[in-house]
Amino acid sequence: MNRTLHPVTEAPLRFWHRDAVIERHHIPPDRTLLDLLREDLRLTATKEGCAAGDCGACTVVVAEAVNGQLQYRAVNSCIKPAHAIDGLALWTAADLAQRDGTLHPVQQAMLACHGSQCGFCTPGFVMSLFALYQRTVVQGQAVDKHSAMAALSGNLCRCTGYRPIVQAACSLSAEPAQAVDEKPIVAALDQLAATEKTNGAYLRPSTLSALLQARARHPQSQLIAGATDAGLWITQGLRRLPQIIDLTRVAELRRVKHYPQHIAIGAAVNLQDAFEALAADRPLIAPFGERFAGWPVRQSGTLGGNVANGSPIGDSMPLLIALGAQVVLMAWRKGKAVHRHVPLDQFYTGYRQSLLAPDEVLAWVVVPRPAPGEWLGAYKVSKRQEDDISAVCLAVQLHMANGLITAARIGAGGVAATPARAIKTEAALIGQPWNEATLLAAQTAIQQEFSPLSDLRASADYRRQILGQLLQRAWLESTGHPTVRLEALA
Ligand SMILES: Cc1cc2nc3c(=O)[nH]c(=O)nc-3n(C[C@H](O)[C@H](O)[C@H](O)COP(=O)(O)OP(=O)(O)OC[C@H]3O[C@@H](n4cnc5c(N)ncnc54)[C@H](O)[C@@H]3O)c2cc1C
Ligand code: FES
Ligand code: FES
Repeated sequence: MNRTLHPVTEAPLRFWHRDAVIERHHIPPDRTLLDLLREDLRLTATKEGCAAGDCGACTVVVAEAVNGQLQYRAVNSCIKPAHAIDGLALWTAADLAQRDGTLHPVQQAMLACHGSQCGFCTPGFVMSLFALYQRTVVQGQAVDKHSAMAALSGNLCRCTGYRPIVQAACSLSAEPAQAVDEKPIVAALDQLAATEKTNGAYLRPSTLSALLQARARHPQSQLIAGATDAGLWITQGLRRLPQIIDLTRVAELRRVKHYPQHIAIGAAVNLQDAFEALAADRPLIAPFGERFAGWPVRQSGTLGGNVANGSPIGDSMPLLIALGAQVVLMAWRKGKAVHRHVPLDQFYTGYRQSLLAPDEVLAWVVVPRPAPGEWLGAYKVSKRQEDDISAVCLAVQLHMANGLITAARIGAGGVAATPARAIKTEAALIGQPWNEATLLAAQTAIQQEFSPLSDLRASADYRRQILGQLLQRAWLESTGHPTVRLEALA
């Protein structure tokens, strides 16, 4: 689809591709990377399937130079603004084979395992495997089934021929090695990285103060992080975004900071890294995090974007509410940076509405570290195991002493206009023994506390029932009864 008939950005877009720096002028801020590749550059190896970040047909790999090394990410080019790859290196499926035609190990493995099926999905699968190859095989690690499935979790094959593709992934180490020669790319990217864009139609500040000042100057512009929600407004909602502020290069916000009592996750930290940081304190969060979208979305999308977007079916918020998380909102006022802390359970004011002011940026998500004796359960019910948003999400944090529940925090998603805290249900638990009678009272409370809607994901009745079932699951797990985890079966 041609989307060129609207404001252009004056700063050139520059990225490394096939041994050279590509420079393009007058690329509109909301032009997608896929349109840039297929229509402007005529690089048609990358396919368009859903244009919604769902199917993975459009997957390309980008790399950023960090401390003299490249960090590789598979991204959905259909929902990624082209300008988001400024200063990065890019590979498409046409860039893997050597100039003499020798196939890349990933292509060779796909060929050998009969994983190359249709021309729409295969380029995307190959690119997800290429990113996996660079992250693992090149670092001397073998690919096991779990890491193969995780890396391919954002690629759908409509003919359901996944087995040979997973087999190809697991056989990558057996192919003759072929690493990217990173030195010239890192040198080229270091040159490009010097340019910060704080004016024009696509702003890409690299410091927190520059971001806050840009936000203060342009409160009406579209702030984005990974664009895994905002990208769909362009391709599915056909919205024009005449000015974009991209916060992903803001150095201060790309970190997870560890303190004795809490961790602070910067707004530019991607979901994969954010869930890993949370799981370091609470290992149960790792399988919950793997249920969030698929690998490319987790590599681009951010925790801050999930929270700020405020979808009632967003997955991280029930968990963060149960953990007692706060958000730090920052703005540039009267010539200086100001900030305020807001508990997440008080952040939302209505359907996709929050306390965030037009000049504010959600800078940090602050999560308390576990206190001794904490028990946590986090559950997502969706139609697909991966690459799907939840119908219902429930997170339960309990503290117990002498057989009594001393503290309870419950976050719920998919059951109200906003992510919500189940305060009445918590009240039914606190001070009670954690037995079947208390469970029954809590189930009744949670089913009365929310009035879910019926939609294409689930009926209201189903959602209400699931709330009760998930509480029962929490009771079974926290009291040591045997249960079956889908994640374990996978
Ligand atoms: C295929 C697919 C699967 C998905 N699966 C899931 C899923 O399983 N669970 C789930 O919860 N979500 C899912 N999503 C939705 C999306 O990936 C998440 O909401 C993601 O966390 C959004 O983060 P982002 O950085 O991409 O936000 P963006 O798209 O960049 O921004 C989204 C909104 O948040 C605002 N925003 C972003 N960062 C900030 C900030 N720091 N301060 C203020 N405002 C900000 C933007 O202005 C915009 O309004 C899925 C999306 C896709 C395409
Ligand atoms: S075209 Fe389907 S994810 Fe991009
Ligand atoms: S590979 Fe395209 S449908 Fe299966």
